[in-house]
Amino acid sequence: MTGASSWDAFWSALPAEPGAALWDSAPELTAARHLPLFRDHIDPALPLVDLGCGSGRQTRWLARHFPRVVGVDIAEAAVELAAATHPAPNVTYRRADVLDEDTAAALRAECGDVNVYLRGVLHQLAPGDRGRMLTAVARLLGRTGVLFAQELTERTGWYVAELLAGGAHLPKTAGLAAHFDFGARVAPAHDGRLRLLFEQYGLAVVDDGDIALHTTEHTPDGQPLELPTTYLVARAPARP
Ligand SMILES: C[S@@+](CC[C@H](N)C(=O)[O-])C[C@H]1O[C@@H](n2cnc3c(N)ncnc32)[C@H](O)[C@@H]1O
Repeated sequence: MTGASSWDAFWSALPAEPGAALWDSAPELTAARHLPLFRDHIDPALPLVDLGCGSGRQTRWLARHFPRVVGVDIAEAAVELAAATHPAPNVTYRRADVLDEDTAAALRAECGDVNVYLRGVLHQLAPGDRGRMLTAVARLLGRTGVLFAQELTERTGWYVAELLAGGAHLPKTAGLAAHFDFGARVAPAHDGRLRLLFEQYGLAVVDDGDIALHTTEHTPDGQPLELPTTYLVARAPARP
């Protein structure tokens, strides 16, 4: 599946301007629509960790609403881009593999309980690694943190596969299909099983539902391309 070198190659080849990646949508269409879905569940005084932060575009918007935000990404090129294009006084970016147990241990030692934002990362992992990532997330949340996740599911995969098979001119989507097998490779699970996966790895899901992922690509008829995805809000089950 996709590891550090593949992600580094992707981010290194991408132009630096915001929106260059298919998913790098404006925060007004993205994090700003996510925050109301989890705001009532969180302790806003906790730091937020953006796992797989990519360009930092959502990270910096989220930093308006949390005292401290840490953006973590496996790709050095993504972290460099984020630091250069989306800096803020209360944001730090660092290169780390979230699947590495030392990463979660170091963040936990440094920050204590945190809220976690996870957008579009899980589906890229090998099936066995998805559980490892959720275990790391549960560790970061501790007793009081809350996770917001937006994930692609099988439905997203079929949608993209059909668009591309129909010959639509979608260069960014087609580029991702070529680099990561996007649209062909099976995403985490069909929608209901994503919730079961979270629960299997110790997360109590307090809300979930359908949500559009706004992309930075337009369909041939000029409409913004939106992908069907799922969101989940979860916390560690042992919360008093
Ligand atoms: C589809 S992008 C989403 C980026 C960002 N969350 C957003 O919504 O704009 C997935 C990101 O996850 C990062 N990533 C993938 N595996 C990771 C891992 N094991 N640890 C940390 N970051 C990872 C990739 O480098 C990439 O930047």
